[in-house]
Amino acid sequence: MLEMVNINKSFPGVRALQDVTFQLRDGEIHGLIGENGAGKSTLMKILAGIYHHDHGEIRFQGSKQGRWTARVIERLGIQFIHQERHVVPYLTVAESLFLGIEPTYSPLKLINRRNLEKQASKVLQEKVGLVVEGNKLVGELTVGEQQLVQICRALLQNPKVIVFDEPTAVLAKREANRLFEIIRELQKNKIAIIYISHYFGEIIDICDRITVLRNGQKVDTVGIEGLTIEDMVQMTVGREIVDQFSEKNQSTDEVLLEVKDLTHKTDFRHVDFSVRKGEIVGITGLMGSGHTSLGMSIYDHYGVVNGVVQLEGKPLGRLKPEGAIAKGIGYVPEDRRNLGIVQDLSVRENITLASLKRVSRGSVINQKAEKQKVASLIERLAIRTPNQEEPVNFLSGGNQQKVVISKWLSSGAKLYILNQPTAAVDVGAKAEIYSLIHELAKEGAGILLISQDLQELVGLSNRILVMFRGEIIDELEGSNVTTDQVLVSMMGGEQNGTDDKIS
Ligand SMILES: Nc1ncnc2c1ncn2[C@@H]1O[C@H](COP(=O)(O)OP(=O)(O)OP(=O)(O)O)[C@@H](O)[C@H]1O
Ligand SMILES: [Mg+2]
Repeated sequence: MLEMVNINKSFPGVRALQDVTFQLRDGEIHGLIGENGAGKSTLMKILAGIYHHDHGEIRFQGSKQGRWTARVIERLGIQFIHQERHVVPYLTVAESLFLGIEPTYSPLKLINRRNLEKQASKVLQEKVGLVVEGNKLVGELTVGEQQLVQICRALLQNPKVIVFDEPTAVLAKREANRLFEIIRELQKNKIAIIYISHYFGEIIDICDRITVLRNGQKVDTVGIEGLTIEDMVQMTVGREIVDQFSEKNQSTDEVLLEVKDLTHKTDFRHVDFSVRKGEIVGITGLMGSGHTSLGMSIYDHYGVVNGVVQLEGKPLGRLKPEGAIAKGIGYVPEDRRNLGIVQDLSVRENITLASLKRVSRGSVINQKAEKQKVASLIERLAIRTPNQEEPVNFLSGGNQQKVVISKWLSSGAKLYILNQPTAAVDVGAKAEIYSLIHELAKEGAGILLISQDLQELVGLSNRILVMFRGEIIDELEGSNVTTDQVLVSMMGGEQNGTDDKIS
């Protein structure tokens, strides 16, 4: 159906793609895998007309296309769900869903806003199972919900091919399962799918074939039959990853963070828990359960209407980021692009942003020390960047996430609130991040791990709190907690939909 032949693409200092040939068959689900920075998104951005390839050719249904422009791509019916969600926060759900494709009436092409909103709400529920008012602002949705709006928007345009660039990085298990149902449904309707993910279990579940990229080159395209996760790790990383999760530390008895009766005006109610020094406490729930909002509310108190938060016995008021840093709180946000990185600053500046004091004498930065520190983090987490001065904006998604992690994990905080810390990160770097988190806990830091990745949650946490509709409904402790148990609890104790295949 679609063929990209000998595609080459360079950016200053980076050879992103080198003679990559990629073929998509009619109606197949084709996985595209590879480490952070391997070139997956770049290949798809070329297909989307966002970048132009330096050399190579794109053919659609056998015929060579002269100019590969946005209009041609749209006419051919290729739709994209990009890794970075491009949403306009101030538009309503209805406006974003129908932007440019609004149903109009009368020759004057008028739009009936009320109708549009009603229709949006209806279509979203039918096509992607999202229940939301059409007049809600997109900025008020969770990233997962924003993504469902985008998927729905693609579906409205009668696509022949849909590209999903890491769609499940921001989705909880149940939402991910819903997405897989949608994808299988699309396949039945003869729509071909290109699917990028670092969750190899998912790839095995839904893909027919995979193409592996490494350092901008194609390693191979193979059928999924008989392939194991280990095979895929071997093909992408070129080596084996031994045991991701090390032995859990014993936490101390000293309470570090104490949250009492914390209540938010909309997102959560009567939340009580504590984190001890050296303890890793996991929090999870279905999308919209309140666990994501809880993370930030602990220090900024935004929207909090009642309750107390204490750090080492002292109450924390409403803090701005610098205040939180001064008190020893590190926060990895879920929304990397808008809250995690400063897009125009360099990799170096982003990494040391929260801990400049640690590389300064008085108010003067010791540049040598700063560079050394940054270099060691770049090496440890294998951050793929041409140099330290590269604007962080130019890094691949997973590498940007590694920068955010580096910034905090080297800040010497007492409490780390980590919201989806390894979303979009490849298997090799994940293992490194897990061992960093372990080290911090061993050194006495407390960690609040907010995660939808159940393996990660179970593998790292001393204790897991489960939220449902804004309240903590369960606490799971002990070394034999399973992902299935967590999942059942997340559903509010319901037994359905517990097939746990994602790794
Ligand atoms: N606009 C750009 N300017 C400069 N370099 C870029 C740009 N876009 C991508 N790159 C570089 O090209 C390489 C491939 O990036 P790409 O985003 O395709 O990786 P990826 O396989 O999608 O990784 P990830 O799993 O992290 O999303 C990276 O080394 C990245 O730094
Ligand atoms: Mg990418």
